[in-house]
This record gives sequence, structure tokens and C-alpha cells, in this order.
Amino acid sequence: MKPKCVVALALPNELLAHLAEHYEVLPWTEAQAISEAELVNRLPGAQGLLCTLTSPVTPAMIEVADRLKVISTISVGVDHIDLLAASRAAIPVGHTPGVLVDSTADLTLALMLAVTRRVAEADRWIRAGHWTDGWQSDLLLGTDISQATIGIVGLGPIGEAVVTRLKGFGCRVLTWNRTPKQVAGTEPVALDALFAQSDIVSLHTALTEETTHIANRARLASMPSGSSLINTGRGLLVDEVALIDEVQSGRLMAGLDVFVNEPLPVDHPFKRLNNVVMLPHLGSATASTRDAMVARALDNLHAGMAGQRVPFCANPEVYEVDG
Ligand code: GLV
Repeated sequence: MKPKCVVALALPNELLAHLAEHYEVLPWTEAQAISEAELVNRLPGAQGLLCTLTSPVTPAMIEVADRLKVISTISVGVDHIDLLAASRAAIPVGHTPGVLVDSTADLTLALMLAVTRRVAEADRWIRAGHWTDGWQSDLLLGTDISQATIGIVGLGPIGEAVVTRLKGFGCRVLTWNRTPKQVAGTEPVALDALFAQSDIVSLHTALTEETTHIANRARLASMPSGSSLINTGRGLLVDEVALIDEVQSGRLMAGLDVFVNEPLPVDHPFKRLNNVVMLPHLGSATASTRDAMVARALDNLHAGMAGQRVPFCANPEVYEVDG
């Protein structure tokens, strides 16, 4: 009998067929995320769980998953998974670091440029039929990245890749990392100073208890008027209510790929504001990066199912031998 593998997201048929060669697959075929209740129903007896950031993996799920040998998420972030509960149950959690660094850094730059040069706003303006007077010296003026001070919060691989790209613009780059880190050509500063001194703040830390609301009301209020917040990390890194107040007042601008609630509610205030550029969580969304993420997640899944060490494991402590 093949081991049972729960797939908690809709996947292309070829991929499901590949999985079915190895496992008894319980697929999820709907476009919307699987509900927590449905996942709890499916997990008893399963040895593998393939999921992504749309399905929280809770302690209750881990408790009912009496035979689970591996959780493999098609994402680098693991904040949707209760890592502590997984580790306590000695279940390795595989994730996909490395392969999405360049795509996410590129998209961060796209948001910085879109916000500061008003790209999305200008596109909407043309489509609405406002371009009737030709070139105008004061039309849709923005600001220059080359003249900006840019603050990078978090110097993991994505934060560093953003710094590498910014060097081409010749701007001043301030950095903050939880464990102090020096990156050539940048100035490490305290977190509060970074917010207070930057024309653009870009968030690249993983979401943990400590980093939740790292962009809090006080730090957002300390940002210079006319500056921008860019977030390609996780929605909860920002106090979204405070950010709404800042962008609604017109004091700050924002470029956001991630939100506290995804999909963004229909009547969300951001949707009414020209000084906010929104993307539907596209950081890793290139065809080749998504292929690489799936390949990495499958490697993790197959290794865990075979009782081997999961190559990209977010909770390596499960392999530490006591004593
Ligand atoms: C995307 O947000 C990821 O964590 O891979």
C-alpha cells in the first residue's frame, strides 16, 4: 500500500500524477484555500503534507496527524505553520529558501519604482482618458531613487539581493538586521533611526513573534513626510491600521505585495488610494522560480516520506539527538 499524502493546494495534473506514482494522494482541487476543518479531516493516517502559505498548519492538525513524517511547504516563509508543535511532534518542516531570492528582490525594486515614479497611477490616469494636453512640465512628478536614502529591514538573502540592486542606483542605503551584519557599501543603524531617516523603508525580515508589527505606528509616524513603505515580506510585519492612517492622510506612500488579509477584502481602504501600489502576493511569481520552488518542495517531501533528512528544513532541531 502506498503511503498517504495530503495535498493542501490545487496543483497541475502532471504534478498530481507524479505524486500518485509514489503516494496515495488526497488532492485539493478548488481555487480557494482548503479550510482548516477539511485539512483536519484529511490528516489522520497521512504520512506527508504538501502545502503552501494559504493553509495554516495548526497544533490541532499536528495532533490528529498521527502518522505524519513530513510537512513540505511550497514557500520560503513558514509563519503559517506552528513550528513549535511540529518540532514537538518530531515532524520536519521543509521549505524553499534560495530559489526565490532574485525574483522577490526584483519585485521589490519594481514596487519602489512604481511608487516613487507613480507608474500605476499614471497608467490608470491614461486609461481614464485624462491625457489630453500632451507633455506638461509638472505632470505626475515623482522622486528619484538615486537621491533617496533607503532603509533595508532584514539582511537575509532577499534583503541582501535588494541591496545589490540598489547599488546600481547610487543611493544611500541604511540597514538593520536582528543580529548585527555589515554589508559593504551600506550603513548599519538602529531600527528606529532607520525608519526616521529613510525616504523608502523596505521590509525583508521573516515574520515571527518579534517581528510582528516591526513597522509599528510610532515608527511609521517617524518616517519623513513623502516617504514610502515597501513590503514584500508578510502583511503582519506592518501595523496595517496605522499604515492606512498614514497613506489616507497623504503623508506616506506604500508599495505592498502582502497584506494582513489575503485576498484583500473587497472594500479595503488601500483600493481607494492613488499613493498605494498593490500586488497580489507576487514576489516569487515567475514561471522558472515557481518551478524551482515546487522542485525543492518535492525533494523535501520525498526525503521526509523516505525517512531521510529533509534537505531544506525550517526546524533542523528535529534532527538533534538528545544527550
Ligand atoms: C512567499 O511569500 C514565500 O514565503 O515563499
